[in-house]
Amino acid sequence: MKKYLVIGNPIDHSLSPKLHNFWFKKHNISANYEKKKTTLEDLEILLEKIRNKEINGINVTVPFKKQIIAHLDSLSLESEKTQSVNTIYLSNDKIIGHNTDIGGFENSIKSINYDLSQKTVFIIGSGGVVPSIIYALEKMKVSRIMITNRTKNKAESLRDLFKDLSIVNWGEVPETDMVINATSVGLQKEDKLNLDFSKIKNGKLFYDIIYNPKETLFLKEAKKLGNKTENGKKMFIYQAAEAFNIWHKIQPKIDKETTNLIEE
Ligand code: ATR
Repeated sequence: MKKYLVIGNPIDHSLSPKLHNFWFKKHNISANYEKKKTTLEDLEILLEKIRNKEINGINVTVPFKKQIIAHLDSLSLESEKTQSVNTIYLSNDKIIGHNTDIGGFENSIKSINYDLSQKTVFIIGSGGVVPSIIYALEKMKVSRIMITNRTKNKAESLRDLFKDLSIVNWGEVPETDMVINATSVGLQKEDKLNLDFSKIKNGKLFYDIIYNPKETLFLKEAKKLGNKTENGKKMFIYQAAEAFNIWHKIQPKIDKETTNLIEE
């Protein structure tokens, strides 16, 4: 039986096993997918298990998406450009790192038929998933990406990867077509960003990377102000589907039954 893991810390909340094990069943694949709480010291041992085929694939989540790179033999172009890896596999005896968060974000936008070309985007936060979002936005030909972060130098250092970013001071909210909450604020139901979105003209798209809770206060307020909203559920499912396709060469169908698995 093949073996797959999602590694990170914390990892208890991860719904990746639910999705992958559901797709194994659907496609009669004899495999098992588990979550494993991991420390930095475990990474080398786990990758040895990929090399000797004890483990067939690993998904990587917070906080190791960058740190894992030092342990890999080769990176996909997307992982190289974002310095972020979330999917690992062995190919011709080389351990390869790939990034399916980019495709996850891009497909989530496509699934709601939102045309991002020549649009302006305001990103809040500068954590692990943000390089992937920026890469996807650039691929979708947005006209401008503005970014703000409580700790300003973290936003500024993203300029090493993406030189055209405009940095916005924490507390300021510019006019824009799309706002993305990429902070962890909202994971607790009562969490609220201390930012005033009322100055942005209505009819815009507000996107939260968080999918549990389904509707953060950020999305609730955006809706009240007359904007469209989208949570991170589709991004999460599409990144998992792309990893599944890399490992098993099968594109899993994303239907109601699949999305229902990810309900609270
Ligand atoms: P990491 O930074 O380890 O990659 P993450 O969960 O991917 O972790 O990112 C957390 C993001 O949420 C960061 O942008 C963080 O801002 P800081 O860089 O200033 O820490 C942001 N964040 C977390 N709590 C926040 C809060 N109370 N107010 C504003 N931003 C917050």
